[in-house]
Amino acid sequence: MTQDEMKKMVAHAALEYVEAGAIIGVGTGSTANHFIDALAGIKHKIDGTVASSEATAERLRGHGIAVFELNEVNDIPVYVDGADESNQYLHLIKGGGGALTREKIIAAASDKFICVADESKLVDVMGTFPLPVEVIPMARSYVAREIVKIGGQPVWREDFITDNGNQIIDIQNLSVMDPVKLEAQLNNIVGVVTNGLFAIRPADVLLLGSENGVKTIT
Ligand code: 5RP
Repeated sequence: MTQDEMKKMVAHAALEYVEAGAIIGVGTGSTANHFIDALAGIKHKIDGTVASSEATAERLRGHGIAVFELNEVNDIPVYVDGADESNQYLHLIKGGGGALTREKIIAAASDKFICVADESKLVDVMGTFPLPVEVIPMARSYVAREIVKIGGQPVWREDFITDNGNQIIDIQNLSVMDPVKLEAQLNNIVGVVTNGLFAIRPADVLLLGSENGVKTIT
């Protein structure tokens, strides 16, 4: 089974968490795209969605699925999104696709966060995947110097602008031993909009696609 087939399988498994008559939070990336395609099959059962990126909104609308602004919505029972890495505590690194800030906002606003990924994303210690940090453009060099002070190697994701009009620094060669602490520490650097650690608000359920089917970790 290919990695993409595992992503598709796990995205379909997430349909089980979709509540009838609800607004569903929808993430960004190739696994989230499989979820969107699967969601299209039951779109008559839901009231609509909130999207974590312009790309996701476009794909949802392409399937005829209603997309609401977060400000128009009171309750999001379930948010479904992928991840770049997860540890066994369901702390995540996200933002490989650059949508980390809207993803984190929707995760915070949702009752339950279902993370969908292929099994290669589960690691003992996070940080092999470069940790994305969204920054206000004028603060980029300052934030990069502050990241060096805490032991990271910042790399500017050139030619990429987020949906919020900001830039991304990817931190390489990190060994994330205390994800909750590092998430707060990075957020405290002036000029940082958010960072790709989802540890203060981790996932609630991790669905992992594997050769042997879907594993559920809670
Ligand atoms: C986008 C993300 C994605 O969830 C993450 O990059 C995983 O992507 P994929 O499902 O394509 O492996 O955080 O900002």
